[in-house]
Amino acid sequence: MKGVILAGGTGSRMLPATQVTNKHLLPIYNKPMILYPLDTLKKMGINDMLIISGKEHVGHIIGLLGSGRQFGLNLSYKVQDEAGGIAQALGLAEDFAKDDKVTVILGDNIFEDTFEVSDFGEGARIFIKTVPDPERFGVAEFSEDKIIGVEEKPLAPKTNYAVTGLYVYDNRVFDFIKNLKPSARGELELTDVNNFYIKSGKMDYKVVQGFWSDAGTFESLFRSSEYIKRKSDSDKNL
Ligand code: DAU
Repeated sequence: MKGVILAGGTGSRMLPATQVTNKHLLPIYNKPMILYPLDTLKKMGINDMLIISGKEHVGHIIGLLGSGRQFGLNLSYKVQDEAGGIAQALGLAEDFAKDDKVTVILGDNIFEDTFEVSDFGEGARIFIKTVPDPERFGVAEFSEDKIIGVEEKPLAPKTNYAVTGLYVYDNRVFDFIKNLKPSARGELELTDVNNFYIKSGKMDYKVVQGFWSDAGTFESLFRSSEYIKRKSDSDKNL
């Protein structure tokens, strides 16, 4: 299993904080954001990771993480020239993945839960969580307990199950990405890739336990910082 951290995008929702730096280098309480998804993958036993970011700031990310040796990891980097969407960014990982499966995490997702993927065979897996504001996310739709579709930021969400920014794919993901068309917002969407897998009957899901947030808005960044501070205070009191 290989790991991919997607840390590109324009960070336009967080200007001016992202005017001269990458969103994933902003601090969540006491550490740069990207260290949290890095840790989530590491706890899954994934040591070989590719980090994808835009040409403006990839040098700063390399400056922070280097070869990965200090974390016991093997890190590689790839540049996404323009922010053409999450799926476009993942498409750049094809050579890195070779014939292996990939666990993909969005660089702004903060999870308390830990995950086990050694049972993953083929197809795809998403990780879902109930939220009060599903319209901000990809939203899962069910028939009984089977996922029958995912909608990206629907105006009228059919459930309150958000699709979090953690995904596991077999190697077919790269063929699906090649067949994508840009969405209304002009991006290649991972939600469309997930719907390919759902239609071919190859999608399973897990429900995320504990705290989860993206940190891609000022409110969610603040919430994430509060959570990490609480956790670090309670760890100190142990
Ligand atoms: O956080 C979970 C949500 O993330 C999912 O529920 C949605 O289905 C998914 O589309 C995504 O929604 P966002 O609107 O939050 O995605 P955003 O554009 O903020 O991008 C998320 C991360 O992906 C971001 O931290 C960096 C990376 N990214 C994004 C784009 C557009 C790239 O690496 N390259 C890109 O071109």
